[in-house]
Amino acid sequence: MTDTDLRPRGPFRFGDRVQLTGPKGRLHTITLREGGELHTHHGVLRHETLIGLPDGSVVANSSGMEYLALRPLLRDFVMSMPRGAAIVYPKDAGQIVVQADIFPGAVVVEAGVGSGALSLSLLRAVGVDGRLVSFERRDEFAEVARANVETFMGGMPGNWDVVVGDLVEALPRTLEPASVDRVVLDMLAPWECVDVVAEALAPGGVVICYVATATQLSRVAEYIRGTDLFTEPQASETMVRGWHVEGLAVRPDHRMVAHTGFLISARRLAPGAVPPDVRKRTVKKASYGDEDVELWTPGAVGDRTITDKNLRKRVREAQRAADGARLAAGVGDEDALTSDS
Ligand SMILES: C[S@@+](CC[C@H](N)C(=O)[O-])C[C@H]1O[C@@H](n2cnc3c(N)ncnc32)[C@H](O)[C@@H]1O
Repeated sequence: MTDTDLRPRGPFRFGDRVQLTGPKGRLHTITLREGGELHTHHGVLRHETLIGLPDGSVVANSSGMEYLALRPLLRDFVMSMPRGAAIVYPKDAGQIVVQADIFPGAVVVEAGVGSGALSLSLLRAVGVDGRLVSFERRDEFAEVARANVETFMGGMPGNWDVVVGDLVEALPRTLEPASVDRVVLDMLAPWECVDVVAEALAPGGVVICYVATATQLSRVAEYIRGTDLFTEPQASETMVRGWHVEGLAVRPDHRMVAHTGFLISARRLAPGAVPPDVRKRTVKKASYGDEDVELWTPGAVGDRTITDKNLRKRVREAQRAADGARLAAGVGDEDALTSDS
């Protein structure tokens, strides 16, 4: 794949995903393919109708019903794609990219990959000169993530590796010590991975953890601090409140997603470095003992688990979407995967 794949631009072509909005705001997402049709109670829309039109066009179906056609934004896609595990919401993905300073050309490690929502933002941020290595201990989740990324990007990015395995064992055998610029952890027990992350990170590198509960936040903060290998961890939460803006009715929306998770980040110190503020501070013993680790079970922290049957269904859904994207791109336009200009 080339970098042009990361820039969804230009007139609609076969292989493109298109989000159609009907008169009552009803959404349909289709992948344009030769001979493809969207059937609704209100008529038939032939995919060919869209080919060559600019993004943001309005098209009519067989009975004259109009649809606004737009390529989905990354945030639209992640909110509607098949999920195996809970995703990082777009508001948090944006913060992760900025707070962890994910830059074009960076070598980034991510774990777990879950449904691949965050992977998409990270792939965009590292660009074609960067590299993303995503670790996931459950094979089915890795499959969902691969299929979602392939569907959105129109192919598997050449700079993305998905390693199936626990980060603690798989990271040291996959990447050289001190070779990684940034690490993003989104998992139940990130503190279990802090030691291998410290080994993999280059001096000055950033680790950022996304956790759902205050108890996890506290535990990972204390673990990072206790290593003496990182700067003082910084924690935050991001709330985004939508506003209704119409005439004189300008007010916050009645509803919002109030809580998703916390972010905590720290930077890897050079070997042997002891920053002045740390030298003065008496490092307190962590208030958690080994027996407390037992408390962090998925149920205890309110993590919703997916049944095996449901997960298999999500894998099939994600793979069907990726098959559709591949087929549509291959049938309609051989250049669709490599040229977007
Ligand atoms: C909440 S999900 C990640 C969601 C993902 N960030 C996204 O945006 O789609 C957490 C994932 O971490 C995986 N996981 C937990 N601990 C892990 C570990 N030590 N190594 C690798 N994967 C791990 C789980 O299997 C799960 O799929």
